[in-house]
Amino acid sequence: MDPQSAGTAGPAGPGAPEEDPEAFRGRAVTTLTSARARTTLLTSCVEEPDLTAQHSPLMSPLVWDLAHIGNQEEQWLLRTVGGQEAVRPEIDGIYDAFEHPRAERPKLPLLPPAEARAYAADIRGRVLDVLERTAFHGTRLTEAGFAFGMIAQHEQQHDETMLITHQLRKGLQALTAPDPDPAPLFTGPAEVLVPGGPFTMGTSGEPWALDNERPAHVREVPAFHIDTTPVTNAAYQAFIDDGGYDTERWWTPEGWAHIRRNGITAPLFWRRDGAQWLRRRFGVTEVVPPDEPVLHVCWYEADAWARWAGRRLPTEAEWEKAARFDPATGGSMRYPWGDADPAPEHANLGQRHLRPAPAGSYPAGESPLGVRQLIGDVWEWTASDFLPYPGFRAFPYKEYSEVFFGPAHKVLRGGSFAVDPVACRGTFRNWDYPIRRQIFSGFRTARSAEDV
Ligand code: AVJ
Ligand code: FE
Repeated sequence: MDPQSAGTAGPAGPGAPEEDPEAFRGRAVTTLTSARARTTLLTSCVEEPDLTAQHSPLMSPLVWDLAHIGNQEEQWLLRTVGGQEAVRPEIDGIYDAFEHPRAERPKLPLLPPAEARAYAADIRGRVLDVLERTAFHGTRLTEAGFAFGMIAQHEQQHDETMLITHQLRKGLQALTAPDPDPAPLFTGPAEVLVPGGPFTMGTSGEPWALDNERPAHVREVPAFHIDTTPVTNAAYQAFIDDGGYDTERWWTPEGWAHIRRNGITAPLFWRRDGAQWLRRRFGVTEVVPPDEPVLHVCWYEADAWARWAGRRLPTEAEWEKAARFDPATGGSMRYPWGDADPAPEHANLGQRHLRPAPAGSYPAGESPLGVRQLIGDVWEWTASDFLPYPGFRAFPYKEYSEVFFGPAHKVLRGGSFAVDPVACRGTFRNWDYPIRRQIFSGFRTARSAEDV
């Protein structure tokens, strides 16, 4: 159930409002520490020139992300929560994402790698002292450790961003991780029926949920069918083989103009080699694995594929209903599998693997209706624009969500293999421009129940 209606969350979950302060402190330390471990790995596995270089105009130099992580932490946890004097106020502007677009960041007087590392470490040390003295009630920013959770999520979001930069970087492999377990070819039903009726979308009680996930509100969602698994590379390849990229009627006018202008004929990082498709993945070229969810497609490609297949992308409300609705109770759960925090058997999260798992993996993570891999593996494009929920209030700053609301951005749901559980929930909302495909994006499709 949504923690507000249920009153409790999973045993380790941050959901119980009466949870003791030491539990919040412990959770804050654990999540901040594991975020920093990931940041350290991502910024120490390449040489200095690869930290300061811009590997794509779409991305910042890695060393910008590193000091930006420290600077956000300084601003929110040290200055705002801790009430302390600014440590390095003169660098705020350099690391303000709104002052400098990504393409211009390499020209800024960035802290060199050693200084950026030392700065982030210095801030972290001071923040752990602040954390010792913080009470977890009384102000909305510190209630249940929210600000600490927000900053841990921010760092993990940038860890995903930095992994995207690693994927775009040319050169030899710098990162390795074990592959997900092989899975038998998924032979279950291709789609499931989600019954019509009201369901509770969003959350008012999940303590570390960000402003755009709030508040919980009831939505009437008519019956629909949704794919049991994300669309695979093999299924996507059938669209290519069928001339999908040369057939205007599958595309929206904007999508068609975009792929024609840019000569797009396959997902990003794919290359045809005779009869087969190859793709580059973190410095290694491999044959495109047929049963893996398709990755690095833009919204226009996802939308066109769905139309070709006689289907459509799910709306954001449909996606969340498929992921959270429990037909046994009529309530909404935190995750497809229930209210327990994500464990390795539930979902492919946290850069444990550097690729999605085969379609049909993680049976323990399926929803009550049998939908798989809603959480983890690939971010899933939805049909919906990024808009505020009724009753939305920006908190604690407008530049996290509010300035991005509107028709320019499409919503993605569910998280990828690259995002940590702290920044991934059944209610978590991501967004991007419909042309973007350097992100770890895939999709699944739906159809309305009355359509045959
Ligand atoms: C939520 C992933 C769209 O990366 O632009 C990071 C997250 N916001 N720093 C982004 C974010 C501020 C955001 N996304
Ligand atoms: Fe940021």
